[in-house]
Amino acid sequence: MDASAWVPADPTLEELQHAAPDCRGCELWKPATQVVFSEGPPTARLVLVGEQPGDHEDRDGEPFVGPAGRLLDEALVDAGTRRERVYLTNAVKHFRYEQRGKRRIHKKPDVGHIEACHPWLDAELEVVDPRVVVVLGATAGRAVLGRTVKVGAERGTLQQLDARQVLLTTHPSAVVRLRGKPEFPEAYAALVGDLQVAVRAAG
Ligand code: URA
Ligand code: SF4
Repeated sequence: MDASAWVPADPTLEELQHAAPDCRGCELWKPATQVVFSEGPPTARLVLVGEQPGDHEDRDGEPFVGPAGRLLDEALVDAGTRRERVYLTNAVKHFRYEQRGKRRIHKKPDVGHIEACHPWLDAELEVVDPRVVVVLGATAGRAVLGRTVKVGAERGTLQQLDARQVLLTTHPSAVVRLRGKPEFPEAYAALVGDLQVAVRAAG
Protein backbone atom coordinates (compact mmCIF):
# COMPACT_ATOMS: atom_id res chain seq x y z
CA MET A 1 0.00 0.00 0.00
CA ASP A 2 1.11 3.55 -0.58
CA ALA A 3 -0.21 7.11 -0.65
CA SER A 4 -1.19 7.15 -4.31
CA ALA A 5 -4.91 6.62 -3.67
CA TRP A 6 -4.97 9.88 -1.65
CA VAL A 7 -2.93 12.04 -4.03
CA PRO A 8 -5.23 14.09 -6.27
CA ALA A 9 -4.64 13.90 -10.01
CA ASP A 10 -3.05 16.90 -11.71
CA PRO A 11 -3.08 18.87 -8.45
CA THR A 12 -2.16 22.35 -7.37
CA LEU A 13 0.00 22.67 -4.30
CA GLU A 14 -3.05 23.75 -2.30
CA GLU A 15 -4.96 20.68 -3.38
CA LEU A 16 -2.08 18.49 -2.26
CA GLN A 17 -1.92 20.22 1.10
CA HIS A 18 -5.67 19.84 1.60
CA ALA A 19 -5.67 16.16 0.67
CA ALA A 20 -2.68 15.07 2.79
CA PRO A 21 -4.43 14.93 6.20
CA ASP A 22 -6.66 12.12 4.90
CA CYS A 23 -3.75 9.93 3.83
CA ARG A 24 -3.71 6.38 5.16
CA GLY A 25 -0.95 5.17 2.86
CA CYS A 26 0.96 3.64 5.76
CA GLU A 27 0.36 3.20 9.49
CA LEU A 28 2.30 6.29 10.61
CA TRP A 29 -0.74 8.59 10.53
CA LYS A 30 -2.31 6.89 13.52
CA PRO A 31 -0.04 7.74 16.45
CA ALA A 32 0.93 11.12 14.99
CA THR A 33 -0.81 14.38 15.93
CA GLN A 34 -1.19 15.56 12.35
CA VAL A 35 0.33 15.46 8.93
CA VAL A 36 3.23 17.86 8.34
CA PHE A 37 3.18 18.60 4.67
CA SER A 38 5.40 21.41 3.48
CA GLU A 39 6.09 25.12 3.54
CA GLY A 40 7.17 27.55 0.89
CA PRO A 41 6.21 29.12 -2.41
CA PRO A 42 5.06 26.87 -5.26
CA THR A 43 7.35 28.92 -7.51
CA ALA A 44 10.53 28.18 -5.51
CA ARG A 45 13.58 27.28 -7.57
CA LEU A 46 15.10 25.45 -4.65
CA VAL A 47 13.44 22.58 -2.80
CA LEU A 48 14.86 21.09 0.39
CA VAL A 49 13.84 17.57 1.37
CA GLY A 50 14.27 16.41 4.97
CA GLU A 51 13.53 13.09 6.63
CA GLN A 52 10.27 13.33 8.54
CA PRO A 53 8.68 15.75 10.98
CA GLY A 54 10.07 15.64 14.51
CA ASP A 55 8.37 16.17 17.84
CA HIS A 56 8.00 19.97 17.40
CA GLU A 57 6.85 19.69 13.81
CA ASP A 58 4.25 17.07 14.75
CA ARG A 59 2.76 19.44 17.34
CA ASP A 60 2.92 22.59 15.17
CA GLY A 61 2.04 21.06 11.80
CA GLU A 62 4.94 22.88 10.10
CA PRO A 63 8.20 21.42 8.81
CA PHE A 64 11.55 22.37 10.35
CA VAL A 65 10.36 24.39 13.32
CA GLY A 66 12.39 22.56 16.01
CA PRO A 67 16.13 22.75 16.75
CA ALA A 68 17.15 21.33 13.35
CA GLY A 69 14.88 23.86 11.66
CA ARG A 70 16.41 26.77 13.52
CA LEU A 71 19.87 25.68 12.51
CA LEU A 72 18.72 25.21 8.93
CA ASP A 73 17.21 28.72 8.89
CA GLU A 74 20.55 30.16 9.98
CA ALA A 75 22.47 28.07 7.47
CA LEU A 76 20.17 29.21 4.65
CA VAL A 77 20.87 32.85 5.49
CA ASP A 78 24.61 32.18 5.67
CA ALA A 79 24.33 30.45 2.28
CA GLY A 80 22.77 33.54 0.70
CA THR A 81 19.04 32.86 0.78
CA ARG A 82 16.31 32.63 3.38
CA ARG A 83 13.68 30.18 4.47
CA GLU A 84 10.79 32.11 2.89
CA ARG A 85 12.32 31.74 -0.57
CA VAL A 86 12.70 27.96 -0.56
CA TYR A 87 10.22 25.09 -0.51
CA LEU A 88 10.70 22.82 2.51
CA THR A 89 9.32 19.32 2.69
CA ASN A 90 10.06 15.85 4.03
CA ALA A 91 10.43 12.36 2.59
CA VAL A 92 7.83 11.11 5.09
CA LYS A 93 4.97 13.34 6.22
CA HIS A 94 4.09 11.83 9.59
CA PHE A 95 6.27 11.70 12.73
CA ARG A 96 7.49 8.22 13.60
CA TYR A 97 8.39 7.78 17.24
CA GLU A 98 8.61 5.41 20.14
CA GLN A 99 6.88 6.33 23.38
CA ARG A 100 9.16 6.12 26.41
CA GLY A 101 7.35 7.30 29.46
CA LYS A 102 6.29 10.83 28.63
CA ARG A 103 8.90 11.25 25.94
CA ARG A 104 8.46 10.56 22.27
CA ILE A 105 11.72 9.31 20.84
CA HIS A 106 12.30 9.92 17.14
CA LYS A 107 12.50 6.70 15.13
CA LYS A 108 13.86 6.68 11.61
CA PRO A 109 11.34 5.75 8.93
CA ASP A 110 11.81 2.38 7.23
CA VAL A 111 12.27 2.03 3.49
CA GLY A 112 8.61 0.88 3.40
CA HIS A 113 7.47 4.22 4.88
CA ILE A 114 9.67 6.18 2.47
CA GLU A 115 8.19 4.29 -0.45
CA ALA A 116 4.62 4.55 0.83
CA CYS A 117 4.94 8.32 1.17
CA HIS A 118 6.78 8.83 -2.11
CA PRO A 119 3.70 9.69 -4.23
CA TRP A 120 3.36 12.93 -2.21
CA LEU A 121 6.96 13.96 -2.80
CA ASP A 122 6.69 13.05 -6.46
CA ALA A 123 3.58 15.21 -6.84
CA GLU A 124 5.20 18.11 -4.98
CA LEU A 125 8.28 18.04 -7.20
CA GLU A 126 6.10 17.98 -10.25
CA VAL A 127 4.05 20.99 -9.12
CA VAL A 128 6.95 23.09 -7.81
CA ASP A 129 9.30 21.96 -10.58
CA PRO A 130 12.45 23.37 -8.95
CA ARG A 131 15.82 23.76 -10.59
CA VAL A 132 17.65 22.22 -7.66
CA VAL A 133 16.66 19.73 -4.98
CA VAL A 134 18.72 19.65 -1.80
CA VAL A 135 18.63 16.27 -0.13
CA LEU A 136 19.14 16.49 3.64
CA GLY A 137 20.55 13.15 4.77
CA ALA A 138 20.20 9.51 3.83
CA THR A 139 16.44 9.12 4.20
CA ALA A 140 15.77 11.99 1.82
CA GLY A 141 18.44 10.52 -0.47
CA ARG A 142 16.58 7.25 -0.62
CA ALA A 143 13.33 9.10 -1.38
CA VAL A 144 14.68 11.43 -4.05
CA LEU A 145 17.22 9.18 -5.77
CA GLY A 146 15.50 5.85 -5.13
CA ARG A 147 18.69 4.23 -3.96
CA THR A 148 20.92 3.98 -0.92
CA VAL A 149 23.16 7.03 -0.69
CA LYS A 150 26.42 7.63 1.16
CA VAL A 151 26.06 11.20 2.31
CA GLY A 152 29.72 11.55 3.33
CA ALA A 153 30.97 10.45 -0.07
CA GLU A 154 28.36 12.16 -2.26
CA ARG A 155 27.73 15.44 -0.49
CA GLY A 156 28.30 18.84 -1.99
CA THR A 157 28.32 18.06 -5.71
CA LEU A 158 25.45 18.64 -8.08
CA GLN A 159 24.06 15.50 -9.69
CA GLN A 160 21.85 15.61 -12.73
CA LEU A 161 18.51 13.85 -12.28
CA ASP A 162 16.29 14.15 -15.34
CA ALA A 163 15.67 17.86 -15.89
CA ARG A 164 16.88 19.01 -12.50
CA GLN A 165 19.92 18.97 -10.29
CA VAL A 166 20.19 17.25 -6.96
CA LEU A 167 22.66 18.00 -4.20
CA LEU A 168 23.16 15.85 -1.12
CA THR A 169 24.22 17.22 2.21
CA THR A 170 24.07 16.30 5.88
CA HIS A 171 20.83 16.49 7.78
CA PRO A 172 20.80 19.59 10.01
CA SER A 173 20.00 17.47 13.09
CA ALA A 174 23.35 15.72 12.64
CA VAL A 175 24.94 19.18 12.93
CA VAL A 176 22.73 20.16 15.89
CA ARG A 177 24.01 17.08 17.73
CA LEU A 178 27.57 18.44 17.49
CA ARG A 179 26.72 21.72 19.24
CA GLY A 180 29.24 22.49 21.97
CA LYS A 181 31.72 20.00 20.53
CA PRO A 182 34.95 20.89 18.72
CA GLU A 183 33.59 19.40 15.46
CA PHE A 184 30.65 21.80 15.32
CA PRO A 185 32.15 24.77 13.44
CA GLU A 186 33.49 22.59 10.66
CA ALA A 187 30.26 20.62 10.29
CA TYR A 188 28.19 23.81 10.20
CA ALA A 189 30.52 25.43 7.66
CA ALA A 190 30.32 22.34 5.48
CA LEU A 191 26.52 22.45 5.53
CA VAL A 192 26.56 26.14 4.60
CA GLY A 193 29.10 25.45 1.84
CA ASP A 194 26.89 22.74 0.34
CA LEU A 195 23.81 24.95 0.53
CA GLN A 196 25.73 27.73 -1.18
CA VAL A 197 26.44 25.49 -4.17
CA ALA A 198 22.72 24.71 -4.42
CA VAL A 199 21.62 28.33 -3.97
CA ARG A 200 23.96 29.47 -6.76
CA ALA A 201 22.82 26.68 -9.10
CA ALA A 202 19.17 27.53 -8.46
CA GLY A 203 19.89 31.15 -9.48
N1 URA B 1 13.83 17.03 10.62
C1 URA B 1 13.35 16.77 9.39
O1 URA B 1 13.89 15.98 8.66
N2 URA B 1 12.29 17.40 9.00
C2 URA B 1 11.65 18.29 9.74
O2 URA B 1 10.66 18.83 9.29
C3 URA B 1 12.18 18.56 11.02
C4 URA B 1 13.26 17.92 11.44
FE1 SF4 C 1 0.45 8.83 4.19
FE2 SF4 C 1 3.02 9.45 4.27
FE3 SF4 C 1 1.53 9.75 6.44
FE4 SF4 C 1 2.18 7.32 5.62
S1 SF4 C 1 3.59 8.90 6.36
S2 SF4 C 1 0.12 8.01 6.24
S3 SF4 C 1 2.13 7.58 3.39
S4 SF4 C 1 1.30 10.88 4.52
